Amino acid sequence: MISKIPYGRQYIDKNDLSKVSKSLKQPLITTGNFVDDFEKKLRKFFKVDNAFVCNSGTSALHLAFLASDIKKGDVVIMPAINFISAYSMCKLIGARIYLSDVDPKTGQMTPKLLLECIKRNKIRKIKAFITMYMGGFAENIIEFHRIKKRFNCLFIEDACHAFGASYIYKKKLIKVGACKHSDISTFSLHPLKPITTGEGGIVTTNNNLLAKKIKQFRSHGIIRHSKFHWKYDILSYGFNYRLSDINSALGISQLEKISFFLKKRKKIYEYYKTKLNNYKNLINFPKYNEKNKPSYHLVLISIDFKNLKKNKDDFLKYLYKNNIISQFHYIPIYNFKTFKSKKKKLKNSEEYHASTLSIPIYHSLKNKDQNLIIDVIKKFFKYSKN
Ligand SMILES: Cc1ncc(COP(=O)(O)O)c(C=O)c1O
Repeated sequence: MISKIPYGRQYIDKNDLSKVSKSLKQPLITTGNFVDDFEKKLRKFFKVDNAFVCNSGTSALHLAFLASDIKKGDVVIMPAINFISAYSMCKLIGARIYLSDVDPKTGQMTPKLLLECIKRNKIRKIKAFITMYMGGFAENIIEFHRIKKRFNCLFIEDACHAFGASYIYKKKLIKVGACKHSDISTFSLHPLKPITTGEGGIVTTNNNLLAKKIKQFRSHGIIRHSKFHWKYDILSYGFNYRLSDINSALGISQLEKISFFLKKRKKIYEYYKTKLNNYKNLINFPKYNEKNKPSYHLVLISIDFKNLKKNKDDFLKYLYKNNIISQFHYIPIYNFKTFKSKKKKLKNSEEYHASTLSIPIYHSLKNKDQNLIIDVIKKFFKYSKN
């Protein structure tokens, strides 16, 4: 059987295996030294005061929202194009969610569209807005910070695509996760992400009050004032969102490879761009701020399907038949059955969704497979153009 080329995949080497094996030989395989060590290394990596690991990107978002004291009826604004996690968690809390439209090329909420959403919905008081850096390209953070100041609200980053990404500020590169301009950043460590712990997540913040609450909600709301483990109190109800030492051990050895991963992802991304950008005037790569450094989590291409007299589904099926797995990132949230309020489609989100898809990128993608993907894509255009 011919194996399919996925759109993303983890990369595990012998150092990962040996680190995980070491963690399994410790007396504590959860709440042990590997967790502390991973968090210490993450604080240094992000240059942030507090970094907490947890068991998924979704739990990272939930912790961020709980610590921010987002409550029933509080206004939260987020992009209509995103993975469902941020929306689900806010919905479960009972927040009043407004979906902002996105840039039709990058799929990201922009400061202008955020302001339009505030104006259109006559929103007066905002508890928080949540940004998402589609594909790992962290755009417009400084402008979002200005909006945060203007509306005196929280700026939370769903940076689940952006581990290792940086943005430029005063001629210096700042890591997403440093929380220099935001209140909280969250990351996912799912196997498709730039580094993985199997399942896992990270929350970072420079706000010590938020940090205290994140830690508390991560482990049942427990607080200890004494060195004796049997003496504890519950200050709030909480969850078990802890990450084990086994996962943290994998995180430590994956983190050691981050520059190596980013370099390879950049190479793969740039190769696609050279071979496909503007191919027959039908394929385009979004334009980003070139001074920033992305994580290259995804390769997003937009295709002029109208001109081709085809649609995205035809293309995805064609790729699938040729053993290439691509993906939609993402279906607009208001298009899901569970979205209860009156469906109001957002123009750019619809345009983005109709034209954009992700093609394979991962550390171990072989050059021969990348060439095959490029050839298969080109063939589609050769035979489709009227
Ligand atoms: C943008 C975004 N937010 C949140 C999540 C949720 O992360 P996890 O799958 O680790 O819960 C993901 C993961 O796919 C994501 O891509």
